Amino acid sequence: MLKNCRARTKPEIRMVKLKDHLKFVDKYYSTLSVDERSRADRFTIKNVRERFIVSRALLRTLIAKKIGIKTNAIVFAYGPHGKPQLDAVMTGISLKEPFHFNVSHSKSMVLFCFGLLPVGADIEFVRKLNNPDRIAQRIISKRKLKIFRSLPLKMRHEVLLQIWTRKESIVKALGCGLTIPVKNFEVWTGSKADPLSFARRVEIPDERFGDLIIESLALKLPKTYVGAVSFICGNKQKDNP
Ligand SMILES: CC(C)(COP(=O)(O)OP(=O)(O)OC[C@H]1O[C@@H](n2cnc3c(N)ncnc32)[C@H](O)[C@@H]1OP(=O)(O)O)[C@@H](O)C(=O)NCCC(=O)NCCS
Repeated sequence: MLKNCRARTKPEIRMVKLKDHLKFVDKYYSTLSVDERSRADRFTIKNVRERFIVSRALLRTLIAKKIGIKTNAIVFAYGPHGKPQLDAVMTGISLKEPFHFNVSHSKSMVLFCFGLLPVGADIEFVRKLNNPDRIAQRIISKRKLKIFRSLPLKMRHEVLLQIWTRKESIVKALGCGLTIPVKNFEVWTGSKADPLSFARRVEIPDERFGDLIIESLALKLPKTYVGAVSFICGNKQKDNP
């Protein structure tokens, strides 16, 4: 399967600016399912509500185009930790090949990814983090923590956000929420001399997943955002006998 990790299985990535769609919020609202509308109605903060409506309506539109059905025919199912997926049976379609997607939103950007393999996305607005060292202790492996602490403070914010988005996109590809300790796998290969270096391929040492191999892609985003998309591309035991 690893050989297939290239061109055809590389996820397709779409980025959308919310502000280009806000004027259609009412129209988009009417394209959502009953459940989605009631979820939207539960949001008390206006821009969070609008962001959910726009991103869900666009997700429906993009999927509908890809698989050739009407947006309102789409039925989503949710994994044990809330990861949405297409419910082909309830949607009434028979897919020739697997279809995976994931969504992430931050501030005014929405990131979508679609692929043949389980995929996860994360985008974060670049900001000064409160107590980066404490966050680092929670998400970086012991081995790398020392190197992280040797970096200038300003650089630590950037490195940490990059690590965060890569790890979060991996967690989202797996769909397992935080049941996987993110400290148990490392995405950061940086050093003091080269702090922004990251592994493209990451092994997940977890019995539940049978040593999965994940590929992580950094994204080219506007300067004020960082983000990553990851996808499950193989299994160490199966692919490296
Ligand atoms: C959903 C979750 C996985 C990410 O949430 P987030 O970063 O706040 O939000 P994002 O915008 O990146 O992603 C939200 C989208 O992910 C999708 N999603 C929800 N649950 C998911 C799950 N378990 N797995 C994958 N995707 C999920 C949904 O499409 C959701 O969008 P929607 O609410 O419009 O339907 C969150 O529940 C979570 O557990 N985060 C962990 C936070 C953390 O401590 N991470 C450490 C990383 S180092």
